Amino acid sequence: GDVAVLVPAAGAGVRLGPGRPKALRFLAGEPLLAHAVRRVAAAPSVHSIVVAAPVAEAAAVAELLAPIAPVTVVVGGATRQESVAAALAAVPAGPEIILVHDAARALTPSTLVESVAAAVRAGDDAVIPVLPVVDTIKEVAADELVLGTVDRSALRAVQTPQGFRRVVLAAAHAAAVDPLTDDAGLVEKQGGSVRCVPGSEYALKITRPFDLALAEHLLLTGAA
Ligand code: CTP
Ligand code: MG
Repeated sequence: GDVAVLVPAAGAGVRLGPGRPKALRFLAGEPLLAHAVRRVAAAPSVHSIVVAAPVAEAAAVAELLAPIAPVTVVVGGATRQESVAAALAAVPAGPEIILVHDAARALTPSTLVESVAAAVRAGDDAVIPVLPVVDTIKEVAADELVLGTVDRSALRAVQTPQGFRRVVLAAAHAAAVDPLTDDAGLVEKQGGSVRCVPGSEYALKITRPFDLALAEHLLLTGAA
């Protein structure tokens, strides 16, 4: 494999409600992170995996993942971007393609990992999996009055894993000032081009209790 995958998993999961850090919450009898890492590790291109864990859970995460795949565990930071930077610093020499994923996208198929990696290999600096936006989107003022309707055909909902040439991701993180919610955004700020490829509905981000229930249903019915 020529790909390293960073899996930021250090978030609290506030929107999921009270409980353990989100990556360690159970989904069909196993922590979210175990599902996510198993799928990543099954992608043939993957050479190494670096997980950023909550500081209090680093040892538990290493123990959880050891039987699933060889992973390096680092301690994450206060923002996703800091967690990604910590994981990036621990990538071994070798892989020239780096994918940045979310532990919260626990049901992401291995085929999506492969297709993003293939697009980077084909020559793009940065690649993001996207889905069309299905809802009508309004721009709204602070007082909840509608300002207008946005042209949805030009919009995409962005998922992970996002793929990068290693040098491009390293430069984007080195130049980063304000935290962004995704890594391709850092490349955009540097003036780099970012290519969209088709995403997957199974790569949904488990954010709220509804998403966890949906993911559990998909697993228990054998769909994912
Ligand atoms: N993440 C991280 N370090 C942080 C914040 C987030 O590694 N300081 C990770 C999360 O663990 C998650 C991914 O980034 O896998 C996407 O973030 P999100 O879905 O927002 O997860 P949380 O931040 O945990 O959730 P919430 O915002 O509801 O607290
Ligand atoms: Mg968050």
